Order: sequence, then C-alpha cells, then structure tokens
Amino acid sequence: MALDLCQSEDPKKTTTAERGPVSENDRQMISKYKVFSRSYDNVFYLLERLVFWKDEMDPRAVLVRKIPDDDLSILDVCCGTGRDSLALAKSNNTITGIDLSPHMLARARKKARMKGLTNTSFHQMNATEVGFQDQEFDVIVSSFALHEMDYEPMITALKEMHRVLKKGGRIYLVDYGREDHPVLQWVFSAYLKISYPQRVHEFLDYDWNKILGDIGFRLDAIEKCRVSRLICAMK
Ligand SMILES: C[S@@+](CC[C@H](N)C(=O)[O-])C[C@H]1O[C@@H](n2cnc3c(N)ncnc32)[C@H](O)[C@@H]1O
Repeated sequence: MALDLCQSEDPKKTTTAERGPVSENDRQMISKYKVFSRSYDNVFYLLERLVFWKDEMDPRAVLVRKIPDDDLSILDVCCGTGRDSLALAKSNNTITGIDLSPHMLARARKKARMKGLTNTSFHQMNATEVGFQDQEFDVIVSSFALHEMDYEPMITALKEMHRVLKKGGRIYLVDYGREDHPVLQWVFSAYLKISYPQRVHEFLDYDWNKILGDIGFRLDAIEKCRVSRLICAMK
C-alpha cells in the first residue's frame, strides 16, 4: 500500500493521502519510530561499533560487499533512516527505500540530500503491500526489520519481496541471530528480553530454508555475524 509518495523531508508536511486503511499495528509502529527516529542513527551507530568491531562481524558490511556496482535496481524494504540504502548508493546502482515511518524516511531523505545523492528515492509504504510492479527489482535488501513483525505479516512481506523481485534476482535479509560467544549471548538475550516481546526469541529459531522455500526462493547461504546473520536467497 503506497501510503504517501511525497518526497518531503519534513514528516509533518507529508500528506495523509492513504490508499487504504492503516492497521492498529502499523499505527503503533509509526508511533514507536516517531520517537525513536530522533536518536536512531546515533544510538545504533554507537551500539553497532561496540558490537561489530571487526568488519567480518558486521552484517551490514558483509551485505554491502556482496552487492556489485552494476547498474542494479535495489529495493531496501523497511529502510528506516536509510543506513543500508546510503551505503549501497555509493555506486551506479539505483536505490529505492520504503518504510512505514514518515519520520525515519525524513531522516533518510535528508541524509541522501546532504550527501548529494541522486540515485536514491524514499517512499512511505507498507512492506506487506508494496506498490511496485511484479519483477521490478534486481536485488532486495532488508535489515533488522523482519523481527519487528508478527509471523503472518512477515510472511506477507516476504511474498511481496518475491513478487517485485526479477526472476534470478537476489534477496539479502539481515537480522538478529543466535550468538556463539556465551557471554555475548547472555547480554544479547537480556537486551531482547527488555526491548522486545517473547516472539522475537522464536524468530531466532525460524527455519529460513523452509520459510523462503515455501515462498519460492532458493536459500543460498546464511552467514553468521555477531548476534546477527545475513540470509542470502535467489528467486
Ligand atoms: C529497526 S528499524 C531498521 C531500519 C533499517 N533497515 C536499518 O537497518 O537501520 C525497523 C524499520 O522497519 C520499519 N517497519 C516495520 N514494519 C514495517 C512494515 N510493515 N512496512 C514498512 N516498514 C516497516 C520501521 O518503521 C523501522 O523503520
């Protein structure tokens, strides 16, 4: 569902030209990220530097290395403030970011403008109802977003990613994963307990081969990083 395709950097100026109803869950998500958008980049930049202190531990760095600079059209689903979008836009590729939160998108647009990027665009859209044509994108990325969704919306979002991805295209999903280091796993579990509902613990044990296989993807690899992983699959 395209909620608002306005490119304004000020979320207050975005129209509410919604083409369909917004669910209570979506409203809660938008509200959560309205508050969080102010500190998101600073907090996560700091946290990620502490946790992913070597490049090979950092799933975002691993993701960026995997995507060639090859005139690709890339969709960043749940792009937030555009962390991945902007990292991938240092190339000839064209990046389209979508997110529910107008406040996170406003940050992404502002950062892209400050960097003088002309190959990015950001749209307010629900991952469960993506307003693009079938097979529009060569590559889809989505980082640290699927764990935020209940199981059924997550499956719907993955089906939408499958629909808009070209045949032979690749999908890269970065999200939390189990950690081998016992002390870090203990700290990570405590963080999850404080920050998220119980279902996030179940998310860590999902069978990605089955989930993605049932939708029509072929799982290529799951690369373990620190407290996270990069799931790579092909359509
Ligand atoms: C933890 S942030 C991750 C943002 C970004 N991908 C990153 O790695 O920094 C999760 C993002 O998912 C977005 N989100 C959650 N559910 C969504 C949905 N159903 N459709 C679109 N965006 C959604 C939130 O608004 C938020 O910006």
